[in-house]
Amino acid sequence: MGNSSDLLSIKNLSVSFGGLKALSNVYLDLHINEVVGLIGPNGAGKTTLFNALSGIVGVDSGELEINGKGHKWPKAHQLIDLGISRTLQGVGLFPELTVLENVMIGATKSAKSGLISSALGFNGRDEKRLREKAMTALERVYASGIADRRADSLPYPVTKRVAIARALVSEPKVLLLDEPAGGLGAQDIEWMNGLIHNLAASCSVILVEHHMDVVMSVCDRLYVLNFGEVISSGNVETVRNDPAVIAAYLGVNN
Ligand SMILES: Nc1ncnc2c1ncn2[C@@H]1O[C@H](COP(=O)(O)OP(=O)(O)OP(=O)(O)O)[C@@H](O)[C@H]1O
Ligand SMILES: [Mg+2]
Repeated sequence: MGNSSDLLSIKNLSVSFGGLKALSNVYLDLHINEVVGLIGPNGAGKTTLFNALSGIVGVDSGELEINGKGHKWPKAHQLIDLGISRTLQGVGLFPELTVLENVMIGATKSAKSGLISSALGFNGRDEKRLREKAMTALERVYASGIADRRADSLPYPVTKRVAIARALVSEPKVLLLDEPAGGLGAQDIEWMNGLIHNLAASCSVILVEHHMDVVMSVCDRLYVLNFGEVISSGNVETVRNDPAVIAAYLGVNN
């Protein structure tokens, strides 16, 4: 159950797609400066939780508290004001735009939904301020040196960092990362590990990740989804040794 010390608390979240119950009475609490891992097999509902919290899929039920205060279930355009930001599974950069432009788009309300349209119609004053914020976000992922490069000229591991900078530009309190280490090699995974750890100094993170080494080393607590239900939660040791988790997930090699 959530309590007033939680930064974010989700309760009774249910989402269905036609007859498929993608999430059933899911709960999740996130404290300040915490990294919470959301794990589970393919199709368990992890991205759906992010999509629901981002207001891009409708929910059957769901209660949300931020700083102990109840909120209506959010719509996509409310996310920035609620201090929530996300990355997309995959990367989702606009290939023909520069790194800086891609990151600037992260500050627009349409981008928070994941439904990014061509949103570069900033006016002059806003653009200067946004440019500065975007550079700051790029510095946080050690990518300010490539601000003027076209996104499609970047190696894949660098695009993953730019995608995180795009999520950081709105200065979120809650950052939702969907498989930030997906597709990376061992060295880049280690690098990503360190980055996530550093990010937690300035915001709280919900991390969806299949790489168990990343999950186990950066997460303070874990929630495990299986077929849309939370089957286990707690600290890393508790969850790692939970027979239900071993059966559902850790025994599966993906
Ligand atoms: N928009 C949608 N319409 C219909 N079904 C959907 C939709 N989005 C997700 N689903 C279904 O909901 C279930 C949960 O999918 P989801 O993408 O949330 O899983 P996931 O845990 O993120 O998996 P993965 O680890 O493979 O990314 C799956 O059965 C998926 O096919
Ligand atoms: Mg997913």
